[in-house]
Amino acid sequence: MSNGLPRPVTAVIIVAAGSGERLGYGMPKARVPLGSDTVLTHALRGVAAAGVARQICVALPPGDTVLQELCETFAEELRAGHDGNPEAQIPLMTTVDGGATRAASVRSALAALLDGTEVVLVHDAARALAPESVFHRVVDSLAAGAVAVIPTIPVVDTVKTVSPTSGDDTTIAPELVTGTAPREELRSVQTPQGFRLSTLLQAHQAALGFDDKQAAAVTDDAMLVELLGVPVHAVHGATQSLKITTPLDLIIAEGLLEGPLGIRWVEG
Ligand code: CTP
Ligand code: MG
Repeated sequence: MSNGLPRPVTAVIIVAAGSGERLGYGMPKARVPLGSDTVLTHALRGVAAAGVARQICVALPPGDTVLQELCETFAEELRAGHDGNPEAQIPLMTTVDGGATRAASVRSALAALLDGTEVVLVHDAARALAPESVFHRVVDSLAAGAVAVIPTIPVVDTVKTVSPTSGDDTTIAPELVTGTAPREELRSVQTPQGFRLSTLLQAHQAALGFDDKQAAAVTDDAMLVELLGVPVHAVHGATQSLKITTPLDLIIAEGLLEGPLGIRWVEG
């Protein structure tokens, strides 16, 4: 599992403050039922099972007492589960109010990390079934000297760039193909993404100066670190780390839980 190098002091931020518009469940996505639990409970279990965190900090929709209680219950479960093993590290559970954007939710959690934190993993609650092996690959890479590391998987579709058609061409089709990206160089990017804490703080500080359009274009933390000119490394992710975004994704996640392959323990 581990590369044998000393593990840095690690905090895991789970961003769970989104509203889940595209899932269309009428409640924040973190609260949506998945199997016999919720999306957030599965995400928390995955982080706890990985055993890498000294602290787990969850960004929640402000005022969401249901999710607040869910986190408190989970913290009690963690303590109870470690009763027989006083040596084991029980992660400290912290919750913070999330912000209007994912990046703002990350910033809110960054402000609540314990002194002495060396590296931070930022994980989407929506990637509720991310396997523990991915957490280990990310932390091992940080332990080996990476400043920033992301889990990725190869792209299966051919990916093209397009632009809107104009003039008479709009009657033919809405878009015109402008190029084909070299697929062997492309990766789909997942979470948990790992960073030296000081680097991620610097990246998010720089993002505070973004205008609305720039802020809306921020879809992950690594892109902010890339803007600093810091190298970002990539390790293999997992297909079951899919981000539950649409109703189809929820069906797939349910299928993973119920299917013959079992839950998060299957590599993909
Ligand atoms: N997130 C967050 N704070 C926000 C927006 C998103 O913490 N203001 C979190 C979500 O809870 C999710 C992750 O970021 O775990 C990825 O975001 P996404 O999949 O887009 O979730 P939602 O924003 O909830 O979904 P949608 O965009 O469909 O509303
Ligand atoms: Mg969103």
